[in-house]
Amino acid sequence: MAVPHVFTVEPLGADLQALAQCLVLEATALPTVGVRFGFEDPTAVTWVARRVGNVCGFASAVRIGVGLHLTALAVEPSLRRRGIARALLRAAAAETREIRLEVWVGNLAAFELYRSEGFVVEQMLPNFYAPALYGSSRDAFLMVRRRPSV
Ligand SMILES: CC(C)(COP(=O)(O)OP(=O)(O)OC[C@H]1O[C@@H](n2cnc3c(N)ncnc32)[C@H](O)[C@@H]1OP(=O)(O)O)[C@@H](O)C(=O)NCCC(=O)NCCS
Repeated sequence: MAVPHVFTVEPLGADLQALAQCLVLEATALPTVGVRFGFEDPTAVTWVARRVGNVCGFASAVRIGVGLHLTALAVEPSLRRRGIARALLRAAAAETREIRLEVWVGNLAAFELYRSEGFVVEQMLPNFYAPALYGSSRDAFLMVRRRPSV
């Protein structure tokens, strides 16, 4: 029987099994560790996308001042381009008036996602990433999305 593409998005909470799945997914998708969770940082907040119970994506952030700083976002490779990252980003953005993040200048998929969700480049960050991980092209964009106050 075919597995449906339906997914749900919710806060990670204290679900250690889901946290472990986030870490595995991050290790396959990103060269750095950005998942943040409440045991290590009380300002951390992570949302998970689940499909038939298993984590298929996550967005992780820390609270800074009036907003959130996104520290990691990843989606299971076989389930990309189905709106999972957009849903995770919207869950995070719904909580705050301002959300900021760094993205590698060569990461077109992520850049397009953020741009389409209203993020703008606030600053170029030269040599932001470690050379061991990104080689000679390691600049990042600092991107920000601010919602007008209501
Ligand atoms: C970036 C990433 C999280 C996107 O996840 P996703 O679930 O596939 O994204 P979505 O399906 O929600 O896509 C939303 C929009 O992002 C843009 N986008 C996503 N993947 C893209 C790609 N490969 N090329 C161009 N644009 C892309 C599109 O605008 C897309 O909208 P559309 O499908 O209607 O055209 C995923 O590719 C990933 O996990 N990459 C590895 C980890 C990573 O780079 N994380 C970001 C670190 S800053």
